[in-house]
Amino acid sequence: MPEPVPAIVLGGSGYVAGELLRLLAGHPRLRIAAVVSTSQAGAQVAASFPHLAAVLPPELRFEAAERLPAHLSGGGRVALFAATPHGTTAPLVDAALAAAEAAGAEAHAVDLSADFRFADPERFARIYGQAHGAPGRAGAFVCAVPEHHRGRAPEHAAQPGCFTTAVVLAAYPLYALGLAAGGVFVSAVTGSSGSGRTPGPGTHHPERSGNLVAYSPLAHRHEPEMAMLLAPACGGVEPEVEFVPHSGPFVRGILATVRMQLVEPMPAPALAAALAEFYVGAPFVRVTTAQPRLNEVVGTNACRIGVATRGRTAVVTSVIDNLVKGAAGGGVQWMNRLLGFEESAGLNLAGIGWH
Ligand SMILES: NC(=O)c1ccc[n+]([C@@H]2O[C@H](COP(=O)([O-])OP(=O)(O)OC[C@H]3O[C@@H](n4cnc5c(N)ncnc54)[C@H](OP(=O)(O)O)[C@@H]3O)[C@@H](O)[C@H]2O)c1
Repeated sequence: MPEPVPAIVLGGSGYVAGELLRLLAGHPRLRIAAVVSTSQAGAQVAASFPHLAAVLPPELRFEAAERLPAHLSGGGRVALFAATPHGTTAPLVDAALAAAEAAGAEAHAVDLSADFRFADPERFARIYGQAHGAPGRAGAFVCAVPEHHRGRAPEHAAQPGCFTTAVVLAAYPLYALGLAAGGVFVSAVTGSSGSGRTPGPGTHHPERSGNLVAYSPLAHRHEPEMAMLLAPACGGVEPEVEFVPHSGPFVRGILATVRMQLVEPMPAPALAAALAEFYVGAPFVRVTTAQPRLNEVVGTNACRIGVATRGRTAVVTSVIDNLVKGAAGGGVQWMNRLLGFEESAGLNLAGIGWH
């Protein structure tokens, strides 16, 4: 077995970084080389993630970004994961890639924030209300779920947002197979871990537990991202997406309900069979006529898709773990592609069932 490729994680003490560390600790081809933190440099990593104490070396400590060149000096391949907030990621990734280039290292980056999802930096600026932090690098990233990207692996990848991941996995094949036309309506519920580690008024436990609320209906930032990622299946034209997200009273997972218009009436088993055929060879996606449940996927990189139809109406339901398939797991899946590893390396995870 060749030497594992060193992996560097930015945004080290956040929730997505914690999931990355959980996955990297068990990855056969990657090893944790550095965990970069702006707030915790010098502190023990396992102290921030006590549930990972059994798999993280006790001597592993968060490092300041300034220390990165030390990890790149030997050249060779490097896997860079960015789990930092949007708007702060681009300059950090730009600096890390520049340091890798200066050291002669072959760095591949996977961005889990929104910074490199749009090849056009102006579009990012319009949606996020701030200038792009590294416009010269935006075009070097491919944004898609790995299941929908065909052909040669790109140099760098941007994992779509967690809601977007759940929605495009459900909707894309109906367009790509010519089974549906027109726009798409989405109602989706996410758990509180989607908001990250820092508590806010909308994520504080007493506000969230036993509660359910829609937020940013028809105005969420993932709406244009969904349209952009569905466009290749719609002849390059972005379909109209109407998206209503909800904050659910649970910690992990997203359940997305996607309604589309079929070109012709179709029984649910035939639609499920068509989608299952579309995802042959995609190790993490399973399609059925049964309704998928969050507990089937929590803790795993799986996406479960269920379908129902009546006449020309199709309702496609998908469930993912927002922190795994929607972030860290999707990111590792991308990195496996970028480095030419088996796509499921380090990702054959059993779920936990009850939590
Ligand atoms: N949570 C999800 O389900 C989910 C799903 C998909 C995508 N994402 C995206 O993944 C990224 C991380 O999300 P998260 O949920 O892990 O958030 P989080 O728990 O808030 O973690 C983000 C981490 O980034 C670092 N950070 C914060 N402010 C920073 C700044 N100004 N400059 C540099 N670093 C800063 C902090 O770690 P240090 O102080 O240790 O550096 C912080 O803990 C975000 O871009 C988010 O949109 C999240």
